[in-house]
Amino acid sequence: MRIQLLVTLAVVVFLFSCGGRTHVIPVKGNSTLGQTAYAQHCASCHPDPTVHEDDGPEEIRDALRSVPAMQPIQLSADDLANIVAYLATVEPTHTPDPAEGLTLWNSNCASCHSNASTFADFTVAQLQTALGTAPMTGIALTPDQFADIAAYLGTLSPTGNAANGQTYFTATCSGCHTATALAQKTAANIQTALSAVSAMSGLSPTQQQILDLAAYFAAVSPGGNAANGQTFFAAHCTGCHTPASMSGRSAAQLQAALALSPMTSITATSQDILDLVAYLATT
Ligand code: HEC
Ligand code: HEC
Ligand code: HEC
Ligand code: HEC
Repeated sequence: MRIQLLVTLAVVVFLFSCGGRTHVIPVKGNSTLGQTAYAQHCASCHPDPTVHEDDGPEEIRDALRSVPAMQPIQLSADDLANIVAYLATVEPTHTPDPAEGLTLWNSNCASCHSNASTFADFTVAQLQTALGTAPMTGIALTPDQFADIAAYLGTLSPTGNAANGQTYFTATCSGCHTATALAQKTAANIQTALSAVSAMSGLSPTQQQILDLAAYFAAVSPGGNAANGQTFFAAHCTGCHTPASMSGRSAAQLQAALALSPMTSITATSQDILDLVAYLATT
């Protein structure tokens, strides 16, 4: 600690004594200048600096002497110190490896999560956040391992269960949305809305529920026509219901109701249902 302080003082004094001239302190290289020197003298043949991150001045001096291709390079002592300082700052690049990710998944996650495809579009950041929560806080993974798992999950295609999605939608979303209005919305659309729409900030569906919703929305055909729904309602329902009393009914609710007596005689196509939903969303 004290030695460090003395060195720092010495450096400060030294810098002052230079009177503003740019002069590099040879003892400790400057990694910023080293990056420039590396680009100038080395990168043409060693484009990836991380390969040499562990090389010190000796290794580089040896190479400059012994490798014919490097012999013409004129490197000052400052350049050398700066390059060594720069190489010490570079992080080794890791190429995410899905096969390694699968192994990691099987040994760390599969015991609790039987269906990996639930997490198919999870990013490294999302995985890291999740692993900060109980009961997963005990699982220690390096950033490279997170990247491997994310790479593995990225090879899976998300699977949702439309029937579960419909149930969840009816319970959680139908108070504010008709299914038709959300027809064809993807998991990504839902994620975006959950974080962007303040009215939805209280909702926290699991990833599986989001995939289920997306599977359900994929099965809903868009374009329920409210005017046609009004016509259909007037023709088949007004005798017994007012439009206001049916306000906001979802496709699922209507379908269930039409299976009940006395409505079993009414024939409604899925398009009729969508049209009714669109109409009842306005009543
Ligand atoms: C003109 C091409 C060229 C340039 C420029 C160059 N090198 Fe090399 N370097 C080589 C070759 C060729 C080898 C030998 C590789 C081998 O033997 O596999 C080598 C080997 C090395 C080695 C020995 C370890 C190893 O990976 O084999 C180090 C350390 C090294 N270079 C560092 C540097 C640094 C630092 C610079 C910039 C100051 C630099 N090189 C510039 C071509 C170059
Ligand atoms: C408390 C009311 C409320 C609830 C409950 C609610 N939302 Fe929303 N949602 C909104 C509002 C307000 C908007 C923004 C206006 C709009 O686009 O309809 C919105 C927008 C959206 C959007 C974006 C619409 C677009 O056109 O891209 C999606 C997708 C969505 N919600 C899905 C859902 C799902 C799925 C649920 C159930 C898990 C849900 N919402 C529950 C109020 C709600
Ligand atoms: C001891 C059991 C257990 C293990 C092991 C485990 N998890 Fe979990 N995980 C849970 C529980 C419980 C939840 C919260 C319930 C839920 O959302 O499904 C959860 C939630 C998650 C979520 C958030 C789900 C969401 O929809 O937001 C992610 C992502 C996740 N886990 C990833 C992993 C990964 C990756 C591993 C392995 C590295 C792992 N988990 C290992 C039990 C476990
Ligand atoms: C002959 C009279 C009659 C007609 C016509 C009729 N309903 Fe009904 N509907 C009923 C009765 C009675 C119930 C209550 C059934 C029960 O709860 O067992 C009901 C229940 C419902 C429900 C469930 C209750 C609720 O409030 O959500 C819905 C939805 C519904 N009807 C929609 C419709 C629609 C849409 C039409 C036109 C396509 C229609 N009904 C036509 C008599 C009718």
